[in-house]
Amino acid sequence: MSQAMSDSEKNLAVVIMAAGKGTRLKSKRPKVLHEIGGKPLLSHVIATAAKVVAPEDIYVVIGHEAERVRAAVSASGVRFVDQPEQHGTGHAIQCASQAIAGYQNVLILSGDVPLIRTETIECVWNFHQAEHAAMTILTAAPEDPTGYGRIVRKAADSPEVAAIVEQRSLTPEQEKIGEINSGIYAFETASLLKHLDKLANSNAHREYYLTDMAAILGSAAERVVAVEAAEAVEVLGANTIAELVALDATLRAKTAARLMAAGVTIFRPETCMIDAEVDIEPDTVIEPFVQLRGRTRIGADSTIRSYTVIDNCTLGNDVLVRQNCVLADSTIADGVRIGPFAHLRPGSELGENVHVGNFVETKKARLGKGAKANHLTYLGDAEVGAGTNIGAGVITCNYDGVDKHVTRIGKDVFVGSDSTLVAPISVEDSAYIGAGSCITKNVPKGALAIGRSRQVTIEGWAEKRRSRQAPK
Ligand code: UD1
Ligand code: CA
Repeated sequence: MSQAMSDSEKNLAVVIMAAGKGTRLKSKRPKVLHEIGGKPLLSHVIATAAKVVAPEDIYVVIGHEAERVRAAVSASGVRFVDQPEQHGTGHAIQCASQAIAGYQNVLILSGDVPLIRTETIECVWNFHQAEHAAMTILTAAPEDPTGYGRIVRKAADSPEVAAIVEQRSLTPEQEKIGEINSGIYAFETASLLKHLDKLANSNAHREYYLTDMAAILGSAAERVVAVEAAEAVEVLGANTIAELVALDATLRAKTAARLMAAGVTIFRPETCMIDAEVDIEPDTVIEPFVQLRGRTRIGADSTIRSYTVIDNCTLGNDVLVRQNCVLADSTIADGVRIGPFAHLRPGSELGENVHVGNFVETKKARLGKGAKANHLTYLGDAEVGAGTNIGAGVITCNYDGVDKHVTRIGKDVFVGSDSTLVAPISVEDSAYIGAGSCITKNVPKGALAIGRSRQVTIEGWAEKRRSRQAPK
């Protein structure tokens, strides 16, 4: 990256155009908030731009559902420019002209071109400086150029561009052009602002096209050049749901490839949904049809079996999550065994070597080292000490219809099967709870508590009944 990019002269601003509605998506949600790899399109573009300039030098043009878009990305520290009515990409930049006036150069990105890499943006910027250009266009040659603006070069081997022609204005001859406009540009700010009001809306969409700046600057004897991206896939835009899904697949394939290169085994990666920010350590195995979402972290030597969905969790080393588990916002230490069919809801913390078995649900529950809840249990708002065994079918009754209450179970406790613990309640270390108990009072250390009616056994009763009911 050039020295000039980081000095205090305000050499470079980034503008991200994100005001459009995305009519072709036929969705209520603004286009730039549609997600790929588990993150809004616009967040991908901001994250990439933030590696090139500081967030306060990034200006996001918002218009359609502006408040929703602003709220979704404001934590990134970028600035916003309003385009209350959207009259085209040229009009979007006209709206940003005051914001960019204090910078010598401006990089323009599209909020709906999310796979662009920092290296490619830097390549455009370096080319722009080396060429002393007024406008530098990032281009590509995708398999199918339909729908994109086409690049008309001054000559086949010239870096100079005569014009960008939008799909609807192409002549039959121009339709054969394979080089497309990515919607990503570098401009020298003074040249851009000097000629920006020459844009007209005399086209098929009655919009002010930023692309027309190529011909406008050219006829003002300013230098307009193009540089082709190494990979067409990173400049593909998302105008339809099908294109969005294709970009999502591309991004997830890249994520899976990154993880596999780092020593993770992912069987049938095309069936897995792994978000862009997921991290996994070597020798961990991911089986087919697994979803790993949000900022999930998984240590080494772990196995995640099929049909499990993990959202925003941290898992240690040597963890086994069997089939069909759902884990959210939870922390799982080394050596833990989970599932099949377990549900860890937010705030679950499983200590080392904990076992949580089938049809067990936890929520805001902390289980100490080696604790076990192997079958059919609900642990909500609960603390379970190290080495404690929770029998099959145990329920912490944490909700009284109005408030939630905490259940505290100490170390090395044995909670017999089918017991209910009515919170707030405390069971001290080493205590025993008899099976089938309904526990409503605290249980002291080392005690046995049984809260069930005594069994009544009537000898010979069944035989008598049968003889009473014998057919006459
Ligand atoms: C644009 C380019 C086309 C290029 C393609 C690459 C123009 C006229 N055409 O077409 O040459 O091949 O991108 O993906 O620029 N936006 C605003 N305000 C507006 C209109 C759009 O902020 O008034 C934003 C949109 O939210 C979007 C971006 O600008 O993020 C591009 O707009 P879009 O309508 O998708 O342009 P394309 O038709 O894809
Ligand atoms: Ca687009």
